Amino acid sequence: MPFAHITGWGMAVPEQVLTNFDLEKIIETSDNWIVEMTGIKERRIAEKDQTTSMLAVEAAWNALSVAKLKPADIDLIICATSTPEYLFPATACLIQDRLGATKAGAFDLSAACSGFIYAMNMAAQAIRSGSLNNVLVIGAETLSQFVDWSDRNTCILFGDGAGAIVLQSSEIPGGVISAVMHSDGSGADLLTVPAGGSKNPASEETIRAGMHYIHMDGREVFRFATRVMAQATREAILSAGILMEDVKWIIPHQANLRIIEAAARGLKVPLERFVVNLERYGNTSTASIPIAICEAASDGRLQKGDKFVLVGFGAGLTWGALTAQWTGVLEADHVIRPTYYRFIARTRSFLRRLWLRIEGIIWGRNTG
Ligand code: UT7
Repeated sequence: MPFAHITGWGMAVPEQVLTNFDLEKIIETSDNWIVEMTGIKERRIAEKDQTTSMLAVEAAWNALSVAKLKPADIDLIICATSTPEYLFPATACLIQDRLGATKAGAFDLSAACSGFIYAMNMAAQAIRSGSLNNVLVIGAETLSQFVDWSDRNTCILFGDGAGAIVLQSSEIPGGVISAVMHSDGSGADLLTVPAGGSKNPASEETIRAGMHYIHMDGREVFRFATRVMAQATREAILSAGILMEDVKWIIPHQANLRIIEAAARGLKVPLERFVVNLERYGNTSTASIPIAICEAASDGRLQKGDKFVLVGFGAGLTWGALTAQWTGVLEADHVIRPTYYRFIARTRSFLRRLWLRIEGIIWGRNTG
């Protein structure tokens, strides 16, 4: 049975930084309160025309470069996102087009902030079954588009960004070892964007009521999160057949430092073994774990052979954890040409669109 190795990683965050001091100017809050209650100091905010797929594509190009793969090598793209560009088409298809991943299937995975763990598990299972070789797993968000900037309960928390991982098949043992996924829909209303779906389609009324923004019962989500983080970590470790001492790093969803501290206490693991970067990015939902992986890889914390745990929770309610062993950069005897692939992808997309129009004219689609 093949193993699913992490062989590429990449991230992309918008340039624009929004600090707690900036927030002090638009809502009644303070840097002190936000740092004390969440640990967050600043977050990145996308430009108006910088979309979820754009951030995802930048992260994906970086991950493909590390893995030394070309877009045509990818069999499947899974984009975990809470802020897709449309109800449909899937944001993953927009990413497929921009990358020129001509052989890839593509779909979005909706499990809120747990989405990246769910997506990694699905990708790893597909590889372990022998049906796929190279899967691109992305977590990408532009949460700033769904934040009510007058709601101090939520707007202090969220930020934008994307992270991408390449999972590759190999006969050598390693990579993803185990995963657990959980859900409890009885808590669906604790964290939700109430309008814009089929239950409450967008209307003048839903917009006036602010139902297209993130609504959250922060206290209840906090209670739930502190309960499940340690529990899911323990389950994933047990299912991997390893011990807590074998785990070098825990890479948690970056929602709130107090939640991570509670998990550390619950697991009796020092906070130093947790990868934490929420002070700089806030909560980027599905992107928070892959961004933290990228930073831990690039500063050398993650070393070849290290066992680590990903653990997260989110709307749904959903939660889960995954254990893996770090592979690191693979030796590759072939040369990759990222600039050329970008050029080919853009040209191909343009020509495909043109051809679809020509076909429409030939077959009378636009003749009325
Ligand atoms: O990916 C999952 C996403 N969600 C989460 O992870 C959220 C989890 N929940 C939390 O992180 C916390 O609930 C928050 C940080 C959001 C809030 O902390 P809390 O301890 O639950 O505070 P609270 O909502 O119970 O509010 C305490 C007080 C209230 O004032 P009063 O009623 O005691 O006078 C709030 O009005 O803090 C006030 N408050 C604020 N004050 C300054 C709430 N938000 C703010 C703010 N600045 N931004």
